[in-house]
Amino acid sequence: MSFTPVHETPEWKALEAHHRELRDVHLRDLFAQSPDRGERFAAEGAGVYLDYSKNRITEKTLELLFALARARRLEERRDAMFAGEHINVTEDRAVLHTALRLPRDASLVVDGVDVVKEVHAVLDRMAAFADAVRSGTWTGHTGKRIRNVINVGIGGSDLGPAMAYDALRHYSDRSLHFGFISNVDGTDFAETVRGLDPAETLFIISSKTFGTLETLTNAHSARDWVVGALGSEEAVAKHFVAVSTNAERVRAFGIDTANMFEFWDWVGGRYSYPSAIGLSLMVAIGPEQFRDMLAGFHAMDEHFRTAPLERNLPVIMGLIGLWYNDFFGAETVAVLPYDQYLDRFSAYLQQLDMESDGKHVDLEGRQVQVQTGPIVWGQPGTNGQHAFYQLIHQGTKLIPCDFIGFLQTLNPVGDHHDLLTANLFAQTEALAFGRDAQEPYRVTKGNQPSNTILCERLEPRTLGALVALYEHKVFTQGTIWGINSFDQWGVELGKELAQRIIPELQAEEEPQLAHDSSTNALIRRYRAARARARAAGR
Ligand code: F6P
Repeated sequence: MSFTPVHETPEWKALEAHHRELRDVHLRDLFAQSPDRGERFAAEGAGVYLDYSKNRITEKTLELLFALARARRLEERRDAMFAGEHINVTEDRAVLHTALRLPRDASLVVDGVDVVKEVHAVLDRMAAFADAVRSGTWTGHTGKRIRNVINVGIGGSDLGPAMAYDALRHYSDRSLHFGFISNVDGTDFAETVRGLDPAETLFIISSKTFGTLETLTNAHSARDWVVGALGSEEAVAKHFVAVSTNAERVRAFGIDTANMFEFWDWVGGRYSYPSAIGLSLMVAIGPEQFRDMLAGFHAMDEHFRTAPLERNLPVIMGLIGLWYNDFFGAETVAVLPYDQYLDRFSAYLQQLDMESDGKHVDLEGRQVQVQTGPIVWGQPGTNGQHAFYQLIHQGTKLIPCDFIGFLQTLNPVGDHHDLLTANLFAQTEALAFGRDAQEPYRVTKGNQPSNTILCERLEPRTLGALVALYEHKVFTQGTIWGINSFDQWGVELGKELAQRIIPELQAEEEPQLAHDSSTNALIRRYRAARARARAAGR
């Protein structure tokens, strides 16, 4: 079925015309014109409150954006995703991360299989394993209790568990130590295992494909480290478990598939941490809290599936983001959580958003004529205020911001939380309204848009809802652009070229290099240094 490229639709053209009317209007005027805007442009769902009033939009903007969403059949596409249709067309796969958080009594038959039963069977196995490690019944090869749990994975098999472990550390078993190894840089491995006792260390090798260079390299180093210290290959059975969709490769690596936790090809890597990829997190916070987190995901899924577009948080955020991305020419979005536990939240969102919507062709293989996915970045406030906010306040770029805050702190220390929250609110106010001054260098022009997202407390449930909010925001935007948000062919080329260069770096004989002159020179320089290091015995 052929569809019109988005920029040719009348709804897009109407937005272009509307942008010409609105592009120079200041938020000060918008607030002056409708003093109740702060309450009117707000919505709530799944425990998340969204104030989107400090955006450069009017009722008309929203009307036009919702019309665009409807013209792009957003609701239909959303329902197709939830129903398990193969909307990931380039890989001919269903996209069903939402099934990972369906309650036990639900049912969803996809390609002839009730996936909910499979999901809960794995969750139950994960729970039994997590309980065994937490209680000390799962011991290492020498009979010692496991004290260290290290997840080895990269991309979606690392960022989710690592981000969520940080985010939910408050709920974790503090007698256990958790580590995350992702980079093929040996420093990551060396520094993470430094000082740990192999007899007390459990590795969770997480890889959807079990074919990723970084993860397999780190997994082999981990195995050498354990076997070398404990003196027996048999130690592998008690110190390694795997999370993957590929049982054959897990077996080939030497992990008994009895110690493998499965997931499915309908879970994209960057959408996978509510699956068995979250095993390290489940060991940290326990099965009950993990299930609470899944309930939070599910609550936001249901909100996205059932709320009218006009009150639908991911839809509103997706449309407003697209308004800046495509009509104002904003290149980036800053995500600024005012909570130290969310230290890695924007790094997580980077993969979620940029790997999903960083696409240049539409679902019919045509070059997209509009801007697609934004650059996502950020770090927790208030730290960022003393680093990069200056550019947002007085630089020349338009940078829409998402501020995320919590009404209650998990660590009441003096009046820190009041100060933190006052800063969050003050930043959104300063960005929107700015300040006039005599001296030009003091002028803060304002009119920098932001969303404010508020939740009660950072609980497992809240984190699930927040992540699902962004997942569906990304889906909303991808659907409007008409791209496939669920493949990632762009990362393949670099992987293939690395495979070609590895033997060229390692060959004893000078290899015949046939790259461009820059790459050839870099390889020669590295080889020379490698030879010097060897000669010096390093
Ligand atoms: O290279 C990108 C990627 O394929 C991501 O999409 C994925 O999350 C990551 O690599 C890791 O893949 P795997 O889980 O198969 O090791």
